[in-house]
Amino acid sequence: MTIPPEAVILLSSPPTAFVREEITSLQTQIINPWTSDNPETIIASAASRVRAIINCSSRVNIDTDYMNRFPNLSLISNHGVGYDNIDAVEAARRGIIVTNTPDVLTEDVADLAMALLLATVRLIPQADQFVRQERWLKAPFPLSGSLQGRTMGIVGLGRIGHAVAFRAKAFGLHITYHGRHRQAKVDYSYHPDLLTMAKDCDTLMVTAPATDATRHMINESILKALGPAGVIINVSRGSLIDQDALISALSSGTIFAAGLDVYEDEPNVPKALIDLDNTVLLPHIGSATLPTRKAMARLVVDNVEAWLSGHSPLTPVPECLGL
Ligand code: DGY
Repeated sequence: MTIPPEAVILLSSPPTAFVREEITSLQTQIINPWTSDNPETIIASAASRVRAIINCSSRVNIDTDYMNRFPNLSLISNHGVGYDNIDAVEAARRGIIVTNTPDVLTEDVADLAMALLLATVRLIPQADQFVRQERWLKAPFPLSGSLQGRTMGIVGLGRIGHAVAFRAKAFGLHITYHGRHRQAKVDYSYHPDLLTMAKDCDTLMVTAPATDATRHMINESILKALGPAGVIINVSRGSLIDQDALISALSSGTIFAAGLDVYEDEPNVPKALIDLDNTVLLPHIGSATLPTRKAMARLVVDNVEAWLSGHSPLTPVPECLGL
């Protein structure tokens, strides 16, 4: 693969500060339209010269229409492990390589998943408010639920799912998992059927990727099966949970609580979720630590550098591995 020296790289969204820093090492022209008042005009004028895109936003929908605008596009380097906003099958069909940033964020996302679980079950945000509002002076804080004795059903035992399982096991939880296939050399019990797993556990940990097949896989019947002690944690993507069904399950006591880092229409979080006191809500910060965001930015640029020097990018997504 020979990349012409005039290869132009487009930033499809405002870059993170670390990406802005790391791209200075790239020996090619970079178009950052996001410092202008009219980015679309700049993108349109450069479109035919763009060979690679660096994408830092899960809200840029890189579908067929988007790709049609860039007839010479060869690489999409995505900042993030999730790439549900990119039609990777269509990209692969066109010979465009899509890369993402796996591994570097696994531990931080798994840590956040456990923090959400602890916060949700042990009522940590509520307890913090209780002290700040000086209500402790008048009465003791109500008793919370416990992590002990819980069975965690992991929906999607990938890299992040495994890292959460490792932590949850150390916390004394019993672990079980659901996914498309039973995994060799994994001791946790496997449920080929999500509904059966939901009946058998009281803590659902959502770590599966967002795809057409996983959209709304957590629906009214799954929540009902989880039951009144049920806690659901989502650090993957909002689309995996039917958000309206979740709101009614939380409001009616069908399940106990939810800890969410992701939502169906970010950054819009429904008022109904905000008003509930059995939710802990975070602003999609799974990978948002300084070291991890720096490592993600470096990997985004390493992928571009590998491609620019005619090598295979380091972390292509599975859909593009056949290229
Ligand atoms: C990802 O990488 O997909 C995480 O959600 C962080 O944005």
